[in-house]
Amino acid sequence: MKKLLIRGGKRLQGEVKISGAKNSALPLMAAALLTEGDNQFFNIPQLRDIKTISKMLSELGAQVSGEENVKINASNLHSYEAPYDLVKTMRASILVLGPLLARFGKAKVSLPGGCAIGSRPVDLHLKALEHMGVTITLKEGYIQAECKKTKGAKIYFDVSTVTGTENIMMVASLSKGTTVLENAAKEPEVGELAQVLNKMGARIEGAGTDVITIEGVDTLHAVEHTVMPDRIEAGTYMIAAGITGGDITITNCNHRHLHALTEKLEEIGLDIKCDDATIRVKGNASLKNTDVKTIPYPGFPTDMQAQIMTLLCLAEGTSIISETVFPDRFMHVGELKRMGAQIRIEGNSAIVNGVDKLCGAPVMATDLRASASLVLAGLVAQGETEVSRIYHLDRGYERMEEKLFKLGADIQRVGK
Ligand code: EPZ
Repeated sequence: MKKLLIRGGKRLQGEVKISGAKNSALPLMAAALLTEGDNQFFNIPQLRDIKTISKMLSELGAQVSGEENVKINASNLHSYEAPYDLVKTMRASILVLGPLLARFGKAKVSLPGGCAIGSRPVDLHLKALEHMGVTITLKEGYIQAECKKTKGAKIYFDVSTVTGTENIMMVASLSKGTTVLENAAKEPEVGELAQVLNKMGARIEGAGTDVITIEGVDTLHAVEHTVMPDRIEAGTYMIAAGITGGDITITNCNHRHLHALTEKLEEIGLDIKCDDATIRVKGNASLKNTDVKTIPYPGFPTDMQAQIMTLLCLAEGTSIISETVFPDRFMHVGELKRMGAQIRIEGNSAIVNGVDKLCGAPVMATDLRASASLVLAGLVAQGETEVSRIYHLDRGYERMEEKLFKLGADIQRVGK
């Protein structure tokens, strides 16, 4: 079983280059299913989730080649079924539902099921598709969707859903007539998907706002595109600088995607300087407590909740972290407490009482961002921390131990 061994106490210094955004690459690769011909995506991160969706696209009949620069040709698809054995490892597999429906007029995709951060319902995806004329049947754990030609509709999402907005944007691009999405997700990854769909020939307006309008077209064509930087990876390294009292320059990132996090980190006492594609972060000896509430973009991102909790474990005073997107997203709390953190859960809030130090211990990753929070804790803990089940980390962080090692961390990957 692969593990990370970390000996804490090193101040991290130097430069780190951010990789392409996982949560943008995934919908973009799914969108390739809408086209014929060669799509070429640059700056694709080398991650487990990318391998998973590549395998899924290949099983559907697409030709997928390359690693950082990925070519996808979906001219000759021969299946419209996304199997459970792949979907169960990655909830984002639901993103092939829309494109398969648009291409074949039918799709069979395993229900994602739950995961460590809570149940991952897709009811809003399905409700929207039914508004567009799709017949949905749930049978033996699978979503069976059928509709010869979807028609545009006015859709209101009860809850802002990132992949729900993305799925319906992709279906609506090839539907008959106009679709209006209200209470649409505004995450930058939604904006990038809309930009690429428009490059493919779609007619989408309003991405990045609450209301997105899509005029259906007959066909979409293959494109080339460079994936934007991963804002959550960048935010994680910002916290690595703060928690170790270090000085890190983060390159190839977009600080405009990190405004809410930057504001919070400055409140806590980090010194942050942003310019075009770099962010320089310096930690300070003392960290101040603050309160955090996760909400959809442009609010504080739920994907940074575990990481900022680790930082606040060492801040003076008490901090309250409220998780409104995935209320159960606290699997990292038990592991942080084994390292000496003082945290108690009350409903969907974590009450964090700052402590002087964390102590190294064997801890277990449970989900992608929880594993990042444990690595951050290990960087500052006294003694040695062993993080197991790091396949969770490999889903969303490219070569994390290499990047941290180059910044001066005492970290190594062990085991087979
Ligand atoms: C996306 O997941 C991201 N994944 C997640 O990142 C991220 O945490 C999440 O958005 C929130 O920002 C990808 O983009 C691949 P949602 P998604 O639909 O789309 C509820 C990571 O760490 N909901 O925006 O699955 C849902 O339960 C991952 O990189 C419904 O009730 O999240 C949640 O409470 C983890 N019904 C809220 O909406 C639905 O049909 C937001 O979920 C859909 C969602």
